[in-house]
Amino acid sequence: LNSADVVIVGCGFYGATVAERCAAELGAKVVILERRDHIAGNAYTEDDQETGIEVHRYGAHLFHTSNSEVWNYVNRFAKFTNYSHRVFTRHQDNIYSMPMNLATLCQFFGRAFTPEEAKALVAEQSRELGGRRPVNLEEKAISLIGRPLYEAFIRGYTAKQWQTDPRDLPEHIFTRLPVRYNFDSRYFSDKFEGLPENGYTALVENMLDHENIQVYCGVDFFDVRKLIRKSAPILYTGPIDRYFEYSEGSLGWRTVDFEKEVVNVPDFQGTSVMNYADESVPYTRILEFRHFYPDRSYSPEKTVIFREYSRSAGMSDEPYYPINTAKDDAVYARYKARAKIEEGVIFGGRLGTYRYLDMHQAIGAALKAYDKLKLMISTSGE
Ligand code: FDA
Repeated sequence: LNSADVVIVGCGFYGATVAERCAAELGAKVVILERRDHIAGNAYTEDDQETGIEVHRYGAHLFHTSNSEVWNYVNRFAKFTNYSHRVFTRHQDNIYSMPMNLATLCQFFGRAFTPEEAKALVAEQSRELGGRRPVNLEEKAISLIGRPLYEAFIRGYTAKQWQTDPRDLPEHIFTRLPVRYNFDSRYFSDKFEGLPENGYTALVENMLDHENIQVYCGVDFFDVRKLIRKSAPILYTGPIDRYFEYSEGSLGWRTVDFEKEVVNVPDFQGTSVMNYADESVPYTRILEFRHFYPDRSYSPEKTVIFREYSRSAGMSDEPYYPINTAKDDAVYARYKARAKIEEGVIFGGRLGTYRYLDMHQAIGAALKAYDKLKLMISTSGE
């Protein structure tokens, strides 16, 4: 630890990208400290012991980006499949395509629409507020898509996600509810999409496969901090409030509980992700991992599913989605100001900057951070 040119806290996509660049381009000696017993952060994938099916321990991770620099970068470390994500949602006794598209609308209203007819109907149903400014999330959603679609597809799901009545949630959570007025049922509309052929853990392993990179799993930065050479720059991708010992307050996150079940059928739901829109069902969605890799020869006898339950995170829970209340944002602004003047430390990643980042955004931001860190590393030994 003492001889490292740079110390990286956290081995998610953000930390791994910076580590790879520092080692491969600068020849710097990199030490990564990871609190968990594995690499790859929240994107970690592993084979389920009972079924042999590869699962995503921290929830479904789909790679998609329109950034060709990021796409070319990840493709250096893994081949990607041509998986194209599609999501369905169950409402009462029917299953619809999500995000809402022309197929969803025709099925829901029981009529054939042209794109223009569907647009006109949604516009008419969105007029309920009569031009008044929406004051909560329910009103905002109604002003965007109208009450029938809101009540079927948004109300119950949102209430479960936030464990709060949408009338008590701020309107700014939704800026835009996507309705596609065509039959495109792909979940993402990015230029590039796919899954790493051997999973995310193997991809990150390849990124870190360099003689100058040493990874210590099961090590918390705060336990070994004293051993780090004073002049070695640190890239910190852990929670920013913890770094400053919660002195400005703690930041609010939502977490997700996963309930795993092995089911003795070849196929449980016919697709990888099924949302449950109704409030009477306690979970928000069910993931069935075998569908991520339809070409793999998994055993037809069993399948593994995760039911997802959403709730706000306590101190000992995994922080997943930032809540970003006005209070949270004010607290974060204070940490951010302190982070700016913290000598020798760069804060990055979703936990270090208190924002939701997709994997491609984390990698893109890490490539930028590397450019900044590069200057610090070249001067650290002087
Ligand atoms: P990440 O959390 O991966 O890594 C940070 C690491 O730091 C962790 O491993 C943590 O243990 C470690 N750490 C923290 N404190 C430490 C300390 N004191 N000492 C040592 N180590 C410490 N993205 C996407 O593109 N497509 C998708 O489908 C999804 N799906 C998705 C589902 C769910 C449920 C979530 C929560 C997130 C997603 N994501 C996603 C987002 C994706 O997980 C995210 O982009 C990456 O995790 C960001 O990488 P980071 O390296 O910033 O954080």
